[in-house]
Amino acid sequence: MNPFNYQGPVVPSRLIDRRNEVDALQRAAADGVAIRLAAPRRFGKTSVLDAHVASMRAVGHRAVRVDLSKVGTVADVAARVAEAFTALPTDPRRSVRRWEARLGVTAKLAGVQLSVAPSAARPPVDEARTALLELLDVPLGLHQADAGLTVVCLDEFQDLLVADDSLDGLVRSVIQHHGGAAAYVFAGSQPSLMRALFSDRERPFYGQARPLDLPVLPVDEAARDVEALMVADGLRTDGAVDELLAFTGGHPQRTVLLAHHLYNLLDDPNPPGEPAVVAIDLGLAETSDAHQAVWDSLGRVERVVVVALADGQAPTGSRVARDHRVARSTLQDALERLLDDERHVQRDRERRPFLLDPLLGEWLRRR
Ligand SMILES: Nc1ncnc2c1ncn2[C@@H]1O[C@H](COP(=O)(O)OP(=O)(O)O)[C@@H](O)[C@H]1O
Ligand SMILES: [Mg+2]
Repeated sequence: MNPFNYQGPVVPSRLIDRRNEVDALQRAAADGVAIRLAAPRRFGKTSVLDAHVASMRAVGHRAVRVDLSKVGTVADVAARVAEAFTALPTDPRRSVRRWEARLGVTAKLAGVQLSVAPSAARPPVDEARTALLELLDVPLGLHQADAGLTVVCLDEFQDLLVADDSLDGLVRSVIQHHGGAAAYVFAGSQPSLMRALFSDRERPFYGQARPLDLPVLPVDEAARDVEALMVADGLRTDGAVDELLAFTGGHPQRTVLLAHHLYNLLDDPNPPGEPAVVAIDLGLAETSDAHQAVWDSLGRVERVVVVALADGQAPTGSRVARDHRVARSTLQDALERLLDDERHVQRDRERRPFLLDPLLGEWLRRR
């Protein structure tokens, strides 16, 4: 079995590095400090939350992850909370049990398999808000019964605002009374939205959570962990793993995606001469539709900027300006737009802009 899963979150035992982050989460929970974890999609937020949940459970706390991705209505939000909280012991107020059926959450096989009804069958907004208020308070009820701590990780927290622009206020109004009863982690994919939720004075969560970064994986540790998994299955890598990491720069999902292909190539009785190169070709073939969609979504000057970044040129320098007959200030504006958007371009530690996705960069170079 190929040990490199690049599609869903990885199980805690398969987590590459992230020891510091998991330790920081554990310490914050012990100190009762809320954390916000903001990073681009596919940087391993959910995987880190699952590792945090596992490590907190291992030391005897209750811990759950609530998946708020793509919630559309308040009832969806309440249902997601109920779904996650079915993993907790029965609360004294029986809130989870009471709301489960009403929200269309059915626990089958003692909570192993869950199905959530489509939103259409869900209760009206007022009732859904009542459900959410009661459900969010479950950790407090549990704490009053046994003095224990519940760790609650709210994954893709910013999607809450899609359901209702004021839900952050509702959530905050309940959980502000949970000191000692619950420790919260708010994770989100759209860094700017997460920042707006926590850094805008007007918003209820302003200044309410300590930020924790989830940068790209450290290249050396990631190479060692990937190498170890290959070697454990008897594969000879001959430097191919280092080549892959040099290419991905530690981008978490891209590293694992390419490691997955490399594993299959090396597992073949007749591996190709340059397996890392072939793995990159396979990764590109698999993701090219997504790169095309990114390209199609960009305006002309943004395209000039991303191509310059892929080619290793200064995207707002005089050379690019001259070659494309664009004013440097126009290039600068386009770069700022891309940086604000945060999905494709970010700044590195030295504040230099770079393309987040190494495969997008390669696709652009081969265009
Ligand atoms: N620390 C890690 N160790 C191993 N794989 C990782 C790690 N971080 C991310 N990944 C890879 O990235 C993919 C996406 O991870 P996920 O946790 O779902 O990210 P996010 O929640 O940020 O979108 C996983 O399928 C896995 O292949
Ligand atoms: Mg996720």
